[in-house]
Amino acid sequence: MASSSSFSSSWALALLLLTMAMVRVDARMSPSGWSLAHATFYGDESASDTMGGACGYGNLFNSGYGTNTVALSTTLFSNGYACGSCYQIRCFGSPHCYRGYPFATVTATNLCPPNWSEDSNNGGWCNPPRTHFDMSKPAFMKIADWKAGIVPVMYRRVPCIKNGGVRFSFQGNGYWLLVYVTNVGGGGDIGSMWVKGSKTGWISMSHNWGATYQAFATLGGQSLSFKITSYTTRETIISWDVAPSNWNAGLTYQASTNFA
Ligand SMILES: *[C@@H]1O[C@H](CO)[C@@H](O)[C@H](O)[C@H]1NC(C)=O
Repeated sequence: MASSSSFSSSWALALLLLTMAMVRVDARMSPSGWSLAHATFYGDESASDTMGGACGYGNLFNSGYGTNTVALSTTLFSNGYACGSCYQIRCFGSPHCYRGYPFATVTATNLCPPNWSEDSNNGGWCNPPRTHFDMSKPAFMKIADWKAGIVPVMYRRVPCIKNGGVRFSFQGNGYWLLVYVTNVGGGGDIGSMWVKGSKTGWISMSHNWGATYQAFATLGGQSLSFKITSYTTRETIISWDVAPSNWNAGLTYQASTNFA
């Protein structure tokens, strides 16, 4: 009996280690399968109309997203939790598709709001429950003739490839900190976030809008660290002392870490 129980406990240990190894692998973002949707575009070739937007990324050239961006329909937007997520989109099954079905890789930076004065199948493309991509015009022009207006597409989630660490842009004051989080790699999205002043413990931040999180806490004059958990992969990273004790609203601080 003793040998059989030690056999089963070592087997259980092996299973535990295997499960832990699988969880580690799962924590990395991997591409999803392909799904069907439709895509349109908004703005012109300068993509100036895509600046700002419901994720809070502001000027997309300054925040590093450029013109490879997309506005998601409400169904995909998940109340802002999809901000920063990355997609490969290719035109599919239309004579307007470019040959070879090239794909555009885009980051979600905006919401395509519903318009209930238009039929969901004729103009109200972003009305729930439709999954719809309203791409920047330069991104749309990579996959199809823009004169098509709307094309059927295949899409999949892919890991976001970003240069350098996560960036934290500050608003607020010594008692209320609002942080705009950009340049997020891996899943690209944020599920939970905490801040720690050099004189405080970890303080849970609440989701404000888009990719912005806030804490009502006395944090002035302290160096700040952040802990963020990916919405998709649940991986957590900690960026120690990203902002020095003389941090200021209006400034952006870049971590040395990012998601895989
Ligand atoms: C919604 O659709 C109507 C009818 O086409 C249009 O007049 C209106 O400008 C649209 N609203 C928005 C916010 O785009």
